[in-house]
Parts: sequence; structure tokens; C-alpha cells
Amino acid sequence: MVKETILTGIRVNGELTLGNYLGALLPMVRLTNKYSAYAKANVFVPDLHAIITDIDGSLKANLLKSIKYYLAAGLVITPNVSIYRQSYIPAHSELTWILNCFANMGEVSRMIQYKEKGDGKDSANVGIFDYPILMAADILLYDAVYVPVGKDQFQHLELTRNLAERFNHRIGRDVFTLPVATAEQAKFMGVKDGICIRDLQNPEKKMSKSTAAENSKIMLSDAPEAAAKKIMSATTDNVSKVQFDMFNQPGISNLLQILAFIRNQPLSEVAAGWAGVTQYGEFKTAVAEEVKGFLIDFQARVAEISDEEVLSALENGEKKASKVAETKLYEVQRAVGLR
Ligand code: TYM
Repeated sequence: MVKETILTGIRVNGELTLGNYLGALLPMVRLTNKYSAYAKANVFVPDLHAIITDIDGSLKANLLKSIKYYLAAGLVITPNVSIYRQSYIPAHSELTWILNCFANMGEVSRMIQYKEKGDGKDSANVGIFDYPILMAADILLYDAVYVPVGKDQFQHLELTRNLAERFNHRIGRDVFTLPVATAEQAKFMGVKDGICIRDLQNPEKKMSKSTAAENSKIMLSDAPEAAAKKIMSATTDNVSKVQFDMFNQPGISNLLQILAFIRNQPLSEVAAGWAGVTQYGEFKTAVAEEVKGFLIDFQARVAEISDEEVLSALENGEKKASKVAETKLYEVQRAVGLR
């Protein structure tokens, strides 16, 4: 039985994609509901992470909406579950500073997300560079062991483990708990490797909110009918076999994994159900209908959740999370001699 803390956060820059939903949000909800009788589960909004990209006035509304998404996905709030905003718990920023002083320029410069988002430009803001350290602080403050994230965040999890190990080694005792290695994280999420939902038009790439082409991504706010059309126009191949082979058939494999995750069915089982089918039209129609049905239900559930309900969950969660974070921060401050 899992008793260790489970934790995740999703940045709220604009609307979320189906990739965010299937790669992190839904696994977090399913794992929290499964284990929160024994394990603590922290669901938080990394609002300080959100401001590394353009500030356009939508943050406050998006923040409430992202919590509604967790609730609409079925998150059950028990006494072991804390929902909170990162910026409401100043220990996150303070621990980031301390961890900065244990991190090397070289290792942080190697982060793929930094390379992609900063694009190697001198004009990239320092927040883009430093955001993995803030992420490490988010995790280490709560002794989180399981961190459901998509595959693109695995490198940051490894960095978190390295920082924690280095800190513990220098201090000479285990101040921080290490999250488990990424292979074990994937296993915990019930997948072989990390989850990566692909771009519908360029399935070699991940589905990303920052991709300009609307046809490439499904947003959780998409009109269900429009989302179905995007699935119908997704890039496939000319192999004429519905099977899971991400290397040779990334488009078809991506649609298979979308179907499996939404239905909460093992990928192998879903793929087996389509074995022998050579017409992609029939298969795409089934995926399109599944996505459409999911969006209709999901959006109706989101609309039923009030801002008040979300704010009250946040205020309760922030009280609980602050206590844990402050205790850990104090231990760290003492360890480095600040207290
Ligand atoms: P972010 O906001 O870029 O993405 C949020 C989550 O969605 C996952 N994700 C995907 N998963 C599968 N397929 C995709 N196409 C896809 N696109 C995005 C991401 O892997 C992630 O899990 N730094 C983090 C947020 C964060 C965090 C944390 C996460 C801040 N502190 C502490 C966990 C623990 C980020 O920018 O993710």
C-alpha cells in the first residue's frame, strides 16, 4: 500500500491541452483517489511558474479553472488531500533560493525545456532558466515521493533527485526525501515509459499549448464537435494496420493511447480490440467520438463547479500545506546555518 506523498502541479498559462489532462491531471486524480486513505496527496497550482511566460491578465481566472478541472476529473477531497496555490506559501520561493546555491549552471543549462522555451536567446528571462529549481522546491518541501508528470518533465525530476542527494550529502544527513526515479514513476502511473500525448499533425512532437496550429492540439475548452474534426484530420501513415508502434506509426499509436487513457483501459487491450483493422476511417471515427463524448461530459461538470467552492478548497489546503512547508523550510534553514 502506497503511504508516501503524491504531488503534482500544472502551469496555468492559457487553456490546458488534452496532453496536460491525460499526461498529468487525470493520472494524479486517479492515483489520489486510489491512495489518499493512506497517503497524502498535494495538488497545487504553480502560479509562480506561470509568470515565466507572458503576463496577459488571464492568470487569476485560469487558476480557478485549473482547480475546477481536477474536480471535474473526479478528484475527491479527503483530509489527506491538499489543494493550494504555490505563491500563497512563501516557503516555495525561499527554498528555491537555497537550492539555487546547490545547483550548477551546467546541469540547469542542460534542461531541454529551458533550451526549448529560452531558445538559447540572451533575452530569455532568468525565470525560464531557474524554473526547474522552483519545481524541485515544490517537490522537496513536502517529501513527495511520487510525482505524476508527463515524460517531458522527467528530466526535471532527475534534477530534483540530484539536488536533494547533493544537499543531503553536503549536510551529512537526510534532510530531503528523494522522489523515486523516473522508471518507477512511470510504473506508478501504470505505464511502461512516461506519458507523451503527441501533436496531431506532427506526431513526432509532443502536443503543446504553445503550438500555433490549432489542428495540432485539443484544448479542454474546444467545442466537442471541433475536437472530433481535429481527430479525423490527424496525421496517420500508409501502413494500414491499427497497432501500437510509436516508432513507425506515431500518429496511429497516439490515437490508440488517447483512447486507452480516456477509457481507463490498458493500452494492450485497446490495441488488441483493433487488431486486423486496416481502415483508418473507422478507427479515427471511434477515437473522435470518444474525445467528443469526453469533452461534452467534462465541460458540463466544469460548468457546475462554483468559484466559491474552489476558493474554499484552496484556503483549507493552504492552511494544511503551509504547516508542512514551513516545518521543512525551518529544517533546511537550520541545516545551512540560517537559523
Ligand atoms: P507544464 O505546465 O508544462 O505541464 C503540466 C503537466 O502536463 C504534462 N504534459 C504532457 N503530458 C503528456 N503529453 C503531453 N503532450 C504533455 N504536455 C504537458 C507535463 O509533463 C506536466 O506533468 N514545471 C511543470 C509544472 C510544475 C510541477 C511542479 C510538476 C511545477 N512544479 C512540481 C510537478 C511537480 C510544468 O511546467 O509543467
